[in-house]
Amino acid sequence: AGEEGGVTERTFMAIKYDAVQRGLISEIMGRMEKKGYKLVALKMVWPTEEFAGKHYHDLKERPFFGNLVKFMSSGPAVAMVWEGPGVIKMARTIIGATDPLKSNPGTIRGDLATSVGRNVIHGSDAYSTAEEEIALWFSPSEIHAWNRTNEDWIS
Ligand code: TYD
Repeated sequence: AGEEGGVTERTFMAIKYDAVQRGLISEIMGRMEKKGYKLVALKMVWPTEEFAGKHYHDLKERPFFGNLVKFMSSGPAVAMVWEGPGVIKMARTIIGATDPLKSNPGTIRGDLATSVGRNVIHGSDAYSTAEEEIALWFSPSEIHAWNRTNEDWIS
């Protein structure tokens, strides 16, 4: 880590099917990559309703849960693990607010979406959920340790 770098950690992110359909995969991944974060796991996953329900188990009692699970299982998502200093909180900042109409311009949702039910990207909201979601979507052998060549400048 660099002299004033934050704690290196990992977060889970998923590009949702609306963004996959709209051709926004590279646009979204590029924002994390250009910030300096390291992609350590990546795959396309078409979740079943059961799997989507597991991912969003905390929201089971919410009125939008049924539609959310249907949407998430309607097509493939791009599942990712990103690593770097302070990445859990910073990914949430880069993503913007849950409702794209309340997300600032410059954020992924603020720039690319208008509807809370089609808000293009998921990111873990805390250390505990990051751990849990990484374990749900990836096996340990799918997560790769490697060095970014510019690591000294961004960590
Ligand atoms: P939540 O975990 O509250 O937000 P975030 O994705 O920002 O962590 O909600 C999960 C998803 O549920 C959210 O991305 C979109 C959907 N959702 C709705 O469809 N309607 C709603 O009113 C809320 C709060 C969320």
